[in-house]
Amino acid sequence: MKQKIAQGAEAILYKDGDKIIKERISKSYRIKEIDTKLRKERTKMEARILEKLARVRVNVPRVLKVDEAKTTLEIEEIKGEKVRDYLLKSKDAKIFKQIAKQVELMHAAGIVHGDLTTSNMILFKNNIFLIDFGLSGHSDRVEDKAVDLHLLKECLKSKHFEIWEQAWKVFEKNYSVKEVINRLKVVERRGRYKEKAPI
Ligand SMILES: Nc1ncnc2c1ncn2[C@@H]1O[C@H](COP(=O)(O)OP(=O)(O)O)[C@@H](O)[C@H]1O
Ligand SMILES: [Mg+2]
Repeated sequence: MKQKIAQGAEAILYKDGDKIIKERISKSYRIKEIDTKLRKERTKMEARILEKLARVRVNVPRVLKVDEAKTTLEIEEIKGEKVRDYLLKSKDAKIFKQIAKQVELMHAAGIVHGDLTTSNMILFKNNIFLIDFGLSGHSDRVEDKAVDLHLLKECLKSKHFEIWEQAWKVFEKNYSVKEVINRLKVVERRGRYKEKAPI
């Protein structure tokens, strides 16, 4: 039986047995032809990225089926707990060692996530799985990878403020591409400048 489990801005998610069905929703403000084309492309891209990451052993759900015509993606269900909920409960900053390793491996494969938050990670049997590659893309640019880290750090500060400093220390220690860590400082300086600028 198909059961609705989540609805975001981009997609509706259903659970059907051990499968997750991600249906990209249409946006009424877009011209119909363009809308269908975009949804098909994003669905295909998300599947491709998941398959690429699985090949390089990043923990991601397996792709079971891509239904391009219907713009739906069927993926394996990861039966764990959302990292956001787990962290709020456990305050276990050490988990960021594994998160850093998964993100590093993803970046090494030339993929940037685009929405790297604790809501898009699942802890299953002590392993971190990355999910939701709906905004992901291919990039080998240090800048793009630093922007991924920036988003994750902002998520920590706002949602996990009690442990964010400790968690980020663990992340920095375990994400070993120092070039990206250094670029993050540039990204952050730019962010602060923008916030203070008039208009
Ligand atoms: N493979 C999966 N296994 C288990 N739960 C999943 C899986 N994919 C998505 N979910 C659940 O559905 C929610 C929304 O899915 P997600 O891919 O993040 O789409 P959205 O773009 O709406 O954020 C996730 O936060 C998670 O709780
Ligand atoms: Mg999500």
